[in-house]
Amino acid sequence: RVPVAVLISGRGSNMAALIEAARDPAYPAEIVRVISNRPGTQGLQTATDAGIETAVVDHKACPTKAEFETALATAIEDSGAELICLAGFMRVLSADFVARFAGRILNIHPSLLPAFTGLDTHERALTAGVAVHGCTVHIVNAELDAGPILIQAAVPVAADDTAASLSARVLAEEHRIYPAALAAVARGDLKPVNGRIVRKGLADLPPTL
Ligand code: GAR
Repeated sequence: RVPVAVLISGRGSNMAALIEAARDPAYPAEIVRVISNRPGTQGLQTATDAGIETAVVDHKACPTKAEFETALATAIEDSGAELICLAGFMRVLSADFVARFAGRILNIHPSLLPAFTGLDTHERALTAGVAVHGCTVHIVNAELDAGPILIQAAVPVAADDTAASLSARVLAEEHRIYPAALAAVARGDLKPVNGRIVRKGLADLPPTL
């Protein structure tokens, strides 16, 4: 099983979905450590209750972003993790940090990327009047919410949706697709090649196909 570190900043419901999936011994990944950039989060408690090792790397206790990221990288590498899942992790990672773990960082984002990068995605989807919203699991690159897409799920927008009602339906899809995406990457069924996701078996086909 591929060892995974999960990075959180708060509630940790996606982290909980990954932990739950990995309880199955047949699941190809194992959550070895949960790291929060904020102390005292609900997600840390959930991880502890599930018997998962936790660590806090408090960005507010670090004088510079570089020092925060060095401490974060150490906490990841010390855990033996080979993959990193950002799960509601609300710090933007530098190009240097991303390069250190190139192709090995996954993120879940609450929109159908490339639409609605950044924050307040549900409010912005409602304001834009889209008929379909959703969520995306992607590989993290140096550009915010722009890395190669692994899996997406679509959620129809209802006429009477509020940001809260829409976000609840999107979140349920997040909990479904994040464990599926992590499993596919851990098995090598999906992998980033030259900035695009290649499905196993298709990697060696000639470019004309
Ligand atoms: C999730 O909806 C996740 O997609 C989003 O934050 C929420 C965290 O919830 N992530 C981002 O907006 C990343 N920019 P959770 O802590 O319960 O998983």
